[in-house]
Amino acid sequence: MKRLQGKNILLGVTGGIAAYKSAELTHRLRDAGAEVRVAMTRAATEFVTPLTFQALSGHPVHTQLLDENAEAGMGHIELARWADAVLIAPASADFIAKLAHGRADDLLSTLCLATRTPLAFAPAMNQAMWHDPATQANCGTLCQRGLLQFGPASGEQACGETGEGRMLEVPELITRLADCFEQGELQAVKVMITAGPTSEPIDPVRFIGNRSSGRMGFALAEAAREAGAAVTLISGPCHLATPERVQRIDVETAEQMHRAVFEQLPQCDIFIAAAAVADYRPLDLHAQKLKKDHANLSLALTRNPDILSDVAHAPNSPFVVGFAAETVNLEINAREKLVRKNLDMIAANLVGLHKNEKQDIGFNSEYNALQVFWAGGAASLELDRKSALARRLIQLITTHYQQHKNDEKNPA
Ligand code: PMT
Repeated sequence: MKRLQGKNILLGVTGGIAAYKSAELTHRLRDAGAEVRVAMTRAATEFVTPLTFQALSGHPVHTQLLDENAEAGMGHIELARWADAVLIAPASADFIAKLAHGRADDLLSTLCLATRTPLAFAPAMNQAMWHDPATQANCGTLCQRGLLQFGPASGEQACGETGEGRMLEVPELITRLADCFEQGELQAVKVMITAGPTSEPIDPVRFIGNRSSGRMGFALAEAAREAGAAVTLISGPCHLATPERVQRIDVETAEQMHRAVFEQLPQCDIFIAAAAVADYRPLDLHAQKLKKDHANLSLALTRNPDILSDVAHAPNSPFVVGFAAETVNLEINAREKLVRKNLDMIAANLVGLHKNEKQDIGFNSEYNALQVFWAGGAASLELDRKSALARRLIQLITTHYQQHKNDEKNPA
C-alpha cells in the first residue's frame, strides 16, 4: 500500500473488545510503511495493555493527558501536529459521543480537537447501541463536520448478537485510510449525487414511480470516488450495490430526497442531480388500499419541490450539475433548464424508445449518451457504458469546477 509509505499515523484506541484487532492494525500499518504512534483511553487499556502497542509500534504509548514523561518526549499538541492522519479504531459509542460534543477531558479527545489532519473513526459496538438514535445523531454530526466514518460492518458480535456494529476488518481499514492520501483531482472535494427514481405513495400498496434504475447516478458516484472525492449518494429505491467507500443515504419520496440533500448541503462542493425525481405526488395519501368501485378513477396530484433548482438557488450553493431527460429538442430543452434552474452545467440524454439507435439508452439501460451544456460551451459524450461515460463526465465536471474555483479566487 504505497500511499501509506512514510505517513505519520496516530492510532487512537478506545475501550471495546475490538481493541485487540488494533494490535494487528498497528502491525499492518507499519508493514505498509507508515510510522505509527498510539494513544489509548483508560478504558482501552482494560482490554489490551499499552505494552502490546508499544512493542508493535516501536514507540511509547500515550495514555495520559497530564504525563510529565510523555510531555517531555512528544507533547500532546506536538503529537497532534505530527500526524498526517488520525484513526480512532475502535471508536466506542461513548468516545463518539464525546467527540460529537467537543469534549477534551482525556488525552485522545484532546488530540482529536487539536489536530488539523484528516480524522477517521471506526465505530465498534453492540448492534442495539449502534442503532440507537443518539449514536446515529452523533455520527451524523461528526460526518457533517468532515470526519470520515469507516464502517461499521455487520455480522456476529462478541456479545453473541448479530447485526451492524462490528469494527471493519483490518485490511479494509488500511484501504480506507490509504484513500485519505489519494492523489486524484477531486481529492478533498465533497461531491453529493442523487440517483434512482422516487416513489410517491398513493395508498399502502401502490405508488407512482418511473423506470430509473439508478445506474447512471451510481456510476457517477463510483467515478467521483475514483477521482478522490468524498462522495455522498442519495438514492431513491433501487437494487444496486453501494460503490465502495461511498456514503449512501436511502430515501423513497421526492420530499425525503429534498430533506436529505439539504441536510448534507453544508458539506457539499459539487452537487450532481442524476435522480429521476417525480415532479408530482398524490395530493392525498390514502390510509387504506383503494377499492376498484368505479369505472374511472382520478388522482389529484400536487407539485413536488424541485431539488436541483432549490440547491442551485440556495445561498452559498455548490457547483451544480443537472441532468435533462428529454424525448425531443434535446439542446433547446436542456439549455432552457440550465438557465431556469440556475445551473453551472447540464448533462442531457435522449430517453424513450429510439428505433434507429443500435443500443437502448437512458432509463434502465447499461448504456447512455450525453450532450453536456454550460454557458458558452458544449461537449458530446458518445454512446458508451454508463461506467465509462460517468468517468468522462466526472472529468469534464472536474475541469469546469476547478475553473469555477479559480474564477472565484481571481474575479475579473
Ligand atoms: O437511473 P438510470 O436507469 O441509470 O437512468 C438514468 C437517467 C435517465 C434517469 C439519468 O441519466 C437522467 O436523465 N436523470 C434525470 C431524469 C430527470 O428527472 O430529468 P428531468 O429533465 O425531468 O429533470 C431535470 C433535472 O431536475 C434532473 O437533474 C432532476 O434530477 C432534477 N429534478 C427534477 C424534478 C424535481 N422535482 N427535482 C429535481 O431535482
